[in-house]
Amino acid sequence: MYFKQILDERCGCASYLIASRQSHEAAIVDPSIETAQYEPLLRERGFQLRYVIDTHVHADHVSGARRLAAEHGAELCMHESARVTYPFRGLTNGEELPLGQLKLRILHTPGHRPELISILVVNPPRSPEPSMVLTGDSLLVGDVGRPDFGGGDASMQFESVSKLLRLPDWVAVFPGHFEGPCGKGMCGRPSTTIGFERLYSPLLHMDRDPFVSVLTDGIPARPLNMTAIEATNRGVADLPWAMLTSSLPVDEVGIDAIDSAPPNAVILDVREPEEFARGHVPKAVNVPQADLATRLAEVPRDRPIMTICQSGSRSLRSAQFLRQQGFDQVVSVAGGTAAWRASGRPVEATEADSGPLRIMDSEWAHAGVLTTNATEFPPPSSR
Ligand SMILES: [Fe+2]
Repeated sequence: MYFKQILDERCGCASYLIASRQSHEAAIVDPSIETAQYEPLLRERGFQLRYVIDTHVHADHVSGARRLAAEHGAELCMHESARVTYPFRGLTNGEELPLGQLKLRILHTPGHRPELISILVVNPPRSPEPSMVLTGDSLLVGDVGRPDFGGGDASMQFESVSKLLRLPDWVAVFPGHFEGPCGKGMCGRPSTTIGFERLYSPLLHMDRDPFVSVLTDGIPARPLNMTAIEATNRGVADLPWAMLTSSLPVDEVGIDAIDSAPPNAVILDVREPEEFARGHVPKAVNVPQADLATRLAEVPRDRPIMTICQSGSRSLRSAQFLRQQGFDQVVSVAGGTAAWRASGRPVEATEADSGPLRIMDSEWAHAGVLTTNATEFPPPSSR
C-alpha cells in the first residue's frame, strides 16, 4: 500500500492519500481546496483516483472533494446522512470500499457532526485487522472534535470515541486536524495510536457527564468565516474565497492607536456576540470572525479598519482576510480587548460581566492552545 498524510499549516487540517501499489487505485480523504497539490502525487506513481471521501461537511476549510472527484471521474463519497445539495455516494456503517487488495471500512462516528465517519484501513494480505484509522474530527490527538458545529452532539461524541477505543492498541490514528479550533486541547502531533490515547488522553478517562460538560463549556470561538465555508461545503453557497489562503502582512498596533485613531476609523470587534456583550471598546461594532465573509458588505472599504478581539490572534487573521479581499486600510490591535481593559480604560457592555464565559480565547496559530479562561480537565477516572 501507499499512504501519505498531507498537513495544511494554515488551517491545521490533514488530508490523506491512500493507494494500492498493486492495482494503482487511490483514494483521497478530506482534500483541501488547493487540489493542485495532489496531482503530482497521483501522476508520479501512476495512481488512478477512484474515491474522494469527505469524512464530514467541514466548517473550517473549503473542501476540494467535488473538484477533485469531477476532474478525475472519481466517486465522491460521504456518509449517507450528509445533508448537501449535490450528488454523492452515500456510505453506510460497516460498508467496505475495495481499493486493490485494501479495504476501507466505514465506521459511523457522529458527534462533531451527525454525518461524520471514520475510515478503517485494512490490508488483508498482511492482517485481517485494521492497522490504521482515519478519524476525521472524532478522535484527535490528545482531544476530541468539538460538538457545536451544525448538529453535533457531545453525548454522541462520547459513544463514538468509546467505539473507537475498542479497537486494538496498535491501530494508528490519523485525525482530520492536528491544530486549530476544531478541538481545544490538541497535542500538535499529527498522529497517535489507539493504545496511547486510551492511556493518556484526559478526556478519554472521563465518564459521560463530565465528558459532555468539558466539551460544551469553554469552547473556542467559531472559526474564521465558518458560516460561508460550511454553506459552500453543503452546496447552498459558492463562496470559496472565504478561505484564508494568504498571509498578507498586517500592521499590529497597540491600544494607544485606538485613542489616536481618525474619527472615521471603524473598530471592528470580531469576537462572538456573547463576548462582545460582556464588554467592548466604546463605539466598536461586532462582526464575529465566523460571519465576516457573509457580512463583508457591512465593513466599509473607504474607512480605516482596526480589528480587535480578546487578545489579538483572531483580529490578526480577520485583518489578513480583509487584506486578502482588497481592504487596504486595515490594522489589528495587538493585545485586544484584554489589554484595553487592563489599562483601566472604560468598556461598554450590554450584559453583566459575571460568571464563566462559554467562549474561551485560544491562540489559533499553534497547537497546545494558550488559554485565558479555559476549563481545567478534571482528574482521570476509570472508564
Ligand atoms: Fe470538522
